[in-house]
Amino acid sequence: MNILILGNGGREYSIGLAISKENSHSLYFCPGNGATDQLGSNINIKDYNELALWAKENSIDLTIVGPEAPLTDGVVDIFKANDLVIFGPSKDAARLEGSKVYMKNILKKYNIPTARFIETDSLEDARKFINTLTPPIVVKADGLCGGKGVIIASTYEEATNAVSDMLSGSSFGDAGLKVVVEEFLDGYELSMFAICDGDDFILLPAAQDHKRVGDGDTGPNTGGMGAYAPTPLVDEELYEKVRQRIIRPTLDGMKKENAPFEGVLFIGVMVVKGEPYTLEFNVRFGDPECEILMPLLKTPVSELFYKGATKDLSNLKIEFLPKFAVGVVMASKNYPYSNSEAAQIIVDEIVDNDLRQNSHISYAGVTKDDDKLFATGGRVMVCVGIGDSIKEARDRAYGLCGQVHFAGKKVRSDIAYQALR
Ligand code: AMP
Ligand code: GLY
Repeated sequence: MNILILGNGGREYSIGLAISKENSHSLYFCPGNGATDQLGSNINIKDYNELALWAKENSIDLTIVGPEAPLTDGVVDIFKANDLVIFGPSKDAARLEGSKVYMKNILKKYNIPTARFIETDSLEDARKFINTLTPPIVVKADGLCGGKGVIIASTYEEATNAVSDMLSGSSFGDAGLKVVVEEFLDGYELSMFAICDGDDFILLPAAQDHKRVGDGDTGPNTGGMGAYAPTPLVDEELYEKVRQRIIRPTLDGMKKENAPFEGVLFIGVMVVKGEPYTLEFNVRFGDPECEILMPLLKTPVSELFYKGATKDLSNLKIEFLPKFAVGVVMASKNYPYSNSEAAQIIVDEIVDNDLRQNSHISYAGVTKDDDKLFATGGRVMVCVGIGDSIKEARDRAYGLCGQVHFAGKKVRSDIAYQALR
């Protein structure tokens, strides 16, 4: 097939890497990054109508969308109107990520477990609800805020101020003109991913992300500093609860809403006393979770996404390798506070056979200049280790990190700690 991947991160690189290993497809990235051109060709077309025309002219058989922005902008609708096969949700269905108010109302309407909440544009109503809760109290801006729209307030006053700043437009502009206020759920967090075709779904092995920049989950939130899967924190009973109580009613509900969900449903799950609650939905793969899930798939990734895009998942028997994967993000010096100066990346030749065969890099914020690779983004790459245990996979991931050099490289040293303690 001719396959087009939209996006420029490590997530898109890892999907491309998995597909390139099938050795039977031609890959295109839009816009891709300084390393995806090793896997295929980078193109740069910003307008989605123009991109759809390009896809038709170049006989693209399948388009895979990485990030949320093209989805909430309606790229899937445009491609489908051009009779192109594309894997991802429609603009309507992508509101599950684009609007927290919409998402919470779907959860409520279809009786899907989530934190008790109100959605409002009134400071007075928010204040009344806040007074019924016990801190910490969670305040969320309605719209997309690049992962920064959630405030965990430790006092009533802080919660009320957060609401007030959001509603006035001063903290997140239009994205904060409505807010969700909800109770704090105290448990452990999982990233779960369901590949959906509108009717059917396949649940992938559960992963854990590490959102804070510092060891022991300290410091500010990031896009994610590392991930591992499958996590031993989930047993078959919990998987089944997530299938029956969260994914099934969501897919049935979205059909009733005339917005059937096709694509990757990313469920941010909080497990409280053994019961799963939906923290949030995203409508795409997580990054860095994607980078560790792709290498665990035995089923060809292209087939999984093609069947997802053509309502054919019921005919797919999914298989996973009986292995673990750990991904450690290498970030730039000033991440997540500010941009860093471009730094040249040197990767040593991996002489250790075991390491060479069981680890790899998924490149993200990198730019190529004169055939040299430079770290130019916040998250520069993910070093992925594969193993028969989480510990083995983690040792390999960190082993690979040790072979990579660029000025200011920043790495968390405790990825997968919740599984290993
Ligand atoms: P979100 O963007 O909704 O995933 O929120 C970002 C992070 O805030 C989540 O990954 C959780 O760690 C935390 N969070 C969000 N909602 C809650 C909640 N109701 N209780 C506890 N933590 C939460
Ligand atoms: N790693 C979390 C996310 O992609 O949103």
